[in-house]
Amino acid sequence: MASQYEMKFDPRTIEHLGVRMYSTLPPALVELISNAYDADASRVELKFHEHNGKPVSIQVMDSGHGMSADDIQNKFLVIGRNRRKEDGDKRTTKFERLPTGKKGLGKLALFGLSKIITVDTICNGLRNRFVINWDELMNAEGSYNPRAELVDEPVNRPNGTIIKFSELKRQSPFDIAGLADSLSKIFIVDDGFEIVLTGSDGGSVVVDNARRYSNFTKEFEWDLEKLVPEGSKFFGKIKGFFYTASTPIKPNSGLRGGLFFLEGN
Ligand SMILES: Nc1ncnc2c1ncn2[C@@H]1O[C@H](COP(=O)(O)OP(=O)(O)OP(=O)(O)O)[C@@H](O)[C@H]1O
Ligand SMILES: [Mg+2]
Repeated sequence: MASQYEMKFDPRTIEHLGVRMYSTLPPALVELISNAYDADASRVELKFHEHNGKPVSIQVMDSGHGMSADDIQNKFLVIGRNRRKEDGDKRTTKFERLPTGKKGLGKLALFGLSKIITVDTICNGLRNRFVINWDELMNAEGSYNPRAELVDEPVNRPNGTIIKFSELKRQSPFDIAGLADSLSKIFIVDDGFEIVLTGSDGGSVVVDNARRYSNFTKEFEWDLEKLVPEGSKFFGKIKGFFYTASTPIKPNSGLRGGLFFLEGN
């Protein structure tokens, strides 16, 4: 009998956690957009390329802080790294955002989309680019080495990350407006962060809060600020609106219920 146990992982675990969980586009894109937000990007653009009506590639480009070679190895390529435990639960430096990432699993979403993933990132004037090949990863035993294409190449360009998906699993054409609708129901976009979807024809759609409510027919409205009486300790501290719709709101619309922000105490 072995005196020490060993736990082994099959690369196919990634298949179960990544591919199965992210087989549709919106949840996978949500992970990528969240990572751009956490990286203090002011903008993330998703470009959808088609050829003769067939999807060819998707590029997700953000203006965030990018990754150094060390970040790639010790943050990006680690499955299940808990960033809050390792880095602390602190706000981001530039926009003082509360990071959304927790589990170090979001990157598995990449594998739901395609077989070839190229990460091209610039951090403080140094560019790194590497490729993850799904088939090679699945055949790897023990560990897998993504292929580095550029290592610490000096560049005179701002920080940011581009993740490109080629050999897409998806065969049907992209529906950019439909995607924008789905994403707008998931994110409440703050002012310092812009999400843009661009189609093959170059036309762009911005995922903003206006789109979130575009199919919503308002019946009544209450201004929360006016509902709080002057003597209350919450006076002037609660902002927002209650809306009712003239027709029932569908459960899957993402618009039911409410979200409250409270400043101070
Ligand atoms: N676009 C990006 N720009 C800069 N760093 C990134 C980017 N995407 C990922 N990273 C780095 O890679 C790490 C792993 O990303 P991943 O999405 O797998 O996990 P997470 O965001 O920490 O947690 P979660 O599982 O909740 O998404 C991030 O914590 C971050 O350090
Ligand atoms: Mg993430």
